[in-house]
Amino acid sequence: MVDPQRLPVLIQRLPVVNGTVEVGGQQDVIWGTAAGTAFGGEDAVPATFKALWDEHHLYVLVSVSDPTRSQGDRVEVFVDENNGKTASYEADDAAYAFRRHGAGNEPVRFRLRERAGGYELEAAIPITRTLVSGAEVGFDVRVTDANRGTVVAWNDFTLDQATDTSKFGTLSLVGPSHVAEVLRGTPVVDGEEDPVWAGATEIATNTWVLGRSGSTARVKTLWDAGKLYVFAHVTDTLLSKASANPWEQDSVEVFLDQDNGKMSQYQPDDGQLRVNYENTQTFGGSATAARIVSATRVVPGGYHVELAITFDAIEPREGTLIGFDFQVNDDGLGNGVRSSVVTWNDPTGESFRNTSRFGVLKLVRQRARSSVPGP
Ligand code: BGC
Ligand code: CA
Repeated sequence: MVDPQRLPVLIQRLPVVNGTVEVGGQQDVIWGTAAGTAFGGEDAVPATFKALWDEHHLYVLVSVSDPTRSQGDRVEVFVDENNGKTASYEADDAAYAFRRHGAGNEPVRFRLRERAGGYELEAAIPITRTLVSGAEVGFDVRVTDANRGTVVAWNDFTLDQATDTSKFGTLSLVGPSHVAEVLRGTPVVDGEEDPVWAGATEIATNTWVLGRSGSTARVKTLWDAGKLYVFAHVTDTLLSKASANPWEQDSVEVFLDQDNGKMSQYQPDDGQLRVNYENTQTFGGSATAARIVSATRVVPGGYHVELAITFDAIEPREGTLIGFDFQVNDDGLGNGVRSSVVTWNDPTGESFRNTSRFGVLKLVRQRARSSVPGP
């Protein structure tokens, strides 16, 4: 039998979105933009982490499932600023320990709090060099469950993190993600923009995945107790479904990560829904025809798409965050070849199998009051 300890350590990569965290504050929305990663696992210590960055910090949010609080429970964080992956520590490499019992924590800003069945760490790790989008940072995180005597890690399962940076994972720093507030409302799904849409927040597709111009959309969203509604105005002057591949036909796609897990693989709550300009639906992930009502209308200069998507993995409420993206596919020449793809947030082209770069919708009853005093 293969001894798992003797397998080579693969270097995992996690995209890390730009954003500043006020440690200990109400930070749900900014954390909602961050990609998530699970490690440990059912038979060890299940844990997840997320990370964000700004010029001189890496922010980490580590959530540990460990119902018994004991001396020695801790989270350790390891940072290799220049991603040198050296077999011994250099000046830019650092290790931090955060004890569940509080004593002996590092002199960095952090909050450790108990939650049902475990605990959560939020910390701001100082970074000496100036971080920029496109940079890479070596990183690992390790969790000790003292009473079970178990240690789990994100990347280096051989647990050499304290002396060797070569088996850390890699964080890829990327720009900030979009967040939009969604108001409540229940439209009739018929491809006509009825008055309930009037006040809805509108987002636009301007993240080019393929090409630099082509068909784009303005997209409104609404929610109610059971559904998410989408109304899209798509500009497209030459409508085509010449390709046999539905994604190469003039069409739009909605990507929905109901629990906003932002994981690198689809989970049961994640779905992809595609509708072409003639209202032919196609699906990926957990999206199915039973959960979707759609209508399209061809209009001068393009087409409208209206959708109702039934939530089946969450009970939406005020404040709920949902992972969401919207994509427009364009067969610009009408020859059956997709010439452009544009989205709201995800630049990778991987939304159909990876939810980590979706944007965020925040469900609200009323738009947040602006800080500008009224008349
Ligand atoms: C992507 C295609 C992919 C398809 C799979 C689309 O969102 O743009 O490249 O093959 O999903 O369903
Ligand atoms: Ca998910």
